[in-house]
Amino acid sequence: MTHRKLEPGKLVIASHNAGKVREIRTLLEPFGIEPVSAGDLNLPEPEETGTTFEDNALLKAHASAQGSGLPALADDSGLCVAALGGAPGVYTADWAERQPYEGEAGRDWYMAMGKVEGKLAEQGPDVDRSAYFICTLALAWPDGHAEVFEGRVQGSLIWPPRGTLGFGYDPVFRPDGHDQSFAELDPADKHAMSHRADAFKKLVAASF
Ligand code: IMP
Repeated sequence: MTHRKLEPGKLVIASHNAGKVREIRTLLEPFGIEPVSAGDLNLPEPEETGTTFEDNALLKAHASAQGSGLPALADDSGLCVAALGGAPGVYTADWAERQPYEGEAGRDWYMAMGKVEGKLAEQGPDVDRSAYFICTLALAWPDGHAEVFEGRVQGSLIWPPRGTLGFGYDPVFRPDGHDQSFAELDPADKHAMSHRADAFKKLVAASF
């Protein structure tokens, strides 16, 4: 399969998350890419109405490419648990959403990890604890062309949570071949093996 190449120049990062934009800048700068965030361009953040990671990544990338007239990159990621039929999947962030009646609104990752564990526990002590993180990257051009790259890291869920590094579900995810959780591993080691690293490796191989 031939992939469209990314020319040096501006690339919109379809995210309003400054941390993500910084991380992507480090990864793509060597290729002459100048990332600009969708937030800096005042581009609207479309609602993630897709039912797959690919749908949501494409939705965000196309919206930014159309809105800016520049190529745009979007990502969508989450945790898929085998025994839960792939849940929380595209709803990974939603599982952490606190209801207004529970006090302060916002995301509570300990609640989300507890929810996953509770559902696993319902299946008994021999439940399959395997899970993977997935990252889908979508690259879209103003003419409507798009490319999609998918990265995964396979592992298993541990309980109780361990470690204080990282974010989201990191304390309960132990990557295969390691004794430590993502939240106990040196961040550089996590970033070298993560679903995001895997997806970016594929993007770089195909696009430059
Ligand atoms: P989104 O891709 O920004 O919509 O986020 C999906 C959710 O997946 C995040 O809010 C995190 O909770 C979770 N997630 C994605 N990548 C990781 C990771 O590397 N560690 C822990 N949680 C992650």
